[in-house]
Amino acid sequence: MSNSDLAVVILAAGKGTRMKSKLHKVLHPLGGRPMLHHLMDTLENLSPSRKVIVVGAGKEQVEKSVGDQAEIVVQEPQFGTGHAVQVTRDQLSDFSGDVLILYGDVPMLSVATLQNMLDVRHGTGNPAVVVLGFEPTDTKAYGRLVVDDQGDLLAIVEHKDATADQRKIGLCNSGIMALDGAVMFDLLDGLDDNNAAGEFYLTDVVAIARAKGFGCAVSVASESEVMGINSRSELAEAEAVFQGAQRQKFMDEGVTLLDPSSVYFSHDTVIGTDVTIEPNVFFGPGVTVEQDVTIKGFCHFEGATIRKGATVGPYARLRPLADVGAGAKIGNFVEIKKSTIEQGAKVSHLSYIGDAIVGTGANIGAGTITCNYDGFNKALTEIGPGAFIGSNTALVAPVKIGAGAIVGAGSVVTREVSTDALVVTRAKQKEMAGWAAAFRQKQIKNKG
Ligand code: UD1
Ligand code: CA
Repeated sequence: MSNSDLAVVILAAGKGTRMKSKLHKVLHPLGGRPMLHHLMDTLENLSPSRKVIVVGAGKEQVEKSVGDQAEIVVQEPQFGTGHAVQVTRDQLSDFSGDVLILYGDVPMLSVATLQNMLDVRHGTGNPAVVVLGFEPTDTKAYGRLVVDDQGDLLAIVEHKDATADQRKIGLCNSGIMALDGAVMFDLLDGLDDNNAAGEFYLTDVVAIARAKGFGCAVSVASESEVMGINSRSELAEAEAVFQGAQRQKFMDEGVTLLDPSSVYFSHDTVIGTDVTIEPNVFFGPGVTVEQDVTIKGFCHFEGATIRKGATVGPYARLRPLADVGAGAKIGNFVEIKKSTIEQGAKVSHLSYIGDAIVGTGANIGAGTITCNYDGFNKALTEIGPGAFIGSNTALVAPVKIGAGAIVGAGSVVTREVSTDALVVTRAKQKEMAGWAAAFRQKQIKNKG
């Protein structure tokens, strides 16, 4: 159900030049998902009835990424954060609920923080403006929050416009605000650009609201929650915060991480209890690991499912639609793509299994390759339950190996093998007694 008393505006019209990228800044991924979508997912918990994203250049990219999840408004040219909210007039001038002003490059806000801002807005004195403040270790060039003895917010002073005394204030402006939609555009109408940057500052709505007799309040968040991402190094810092939170969450839920800082999760990774993960493992998007699984070091996964009690790695690569069955074993230097490895089957060493079904309890010998691609099309390999595939075998798809069949080592199998049969395709072994000794003697004599 949507909350008809809540609208959100996400500002994302900045040029993002420090990112040095063709990709719009807000679409750079954190934990494998665009930062804008982290924010949008958080907002889903508050069910806003209207979502407006303000963009400048790169509108098409943002539009393609969000689809019909939000309205997109273009701010061109960009005359500052206040001007960015002014351009949402067509979408929001009839709206009288709460309006949250957010930033596409500040993606790590928690629902609790946003809810707290809304609670403050509807708390004592019903302030028309609630600003999210924070106390950074380095106040850099952040706007400073000027508060009175009661903690009421009097004004926000931009760093560029601040006096030396004001620059000593530790409480800074995150930029995030909750506004009373009924008066928001009246307040915005009062902005001007008589300031150091020559911009229409959103922050000036505080002084304007005070002058009109409205209350203004501060709600405080931690620095890591409100960090903005403007460059690749800030993106890396945010990724570190995100990964730290993911690792902690999984450990809290009963997952053992031998070296947490060397394991990377995706935003959507699912892991069951009593799973042990050794160092240096990377989870791309779409991976589910059921309980009691052991993942040995140096594995890379994406789009894969690992079922109860399976063992994977070290050095295994599971690609999209790899489905490793309960109790199955995937060993070192094994790559699996779009294949189902049924319960208890083993692929222990040096194999490529693609577009295949490996039956229950089958054993795939070292160096087995499913030749699934002929340069044009992909084809299926079906290996029956309990089959035994000898080492260094090439299975040329489409091909079926019957249940319980044995394929001799070094075979190239191109035709169906029946249930319980033995198939060997390599040349017969020949032996010539004493040949090697005679050969050596001849060569020694001829050497000159
Ligand atoms: C702003 C705040 C400052 C706060 C800081 C937190 C103002 C005037 N100042 O400063 O108090 O401490 O954020 O990071 O608001 N944007 C638009 N259109 C514009 C200008 C900006 O959409 O015309 C968007 C940008 O994409 C960016 C955000 O607004 O995401 C902040 O803009 P920026 O110019 O970086 O503001 P700051 O100077 O950092
Ligand atoms: Ca900024």
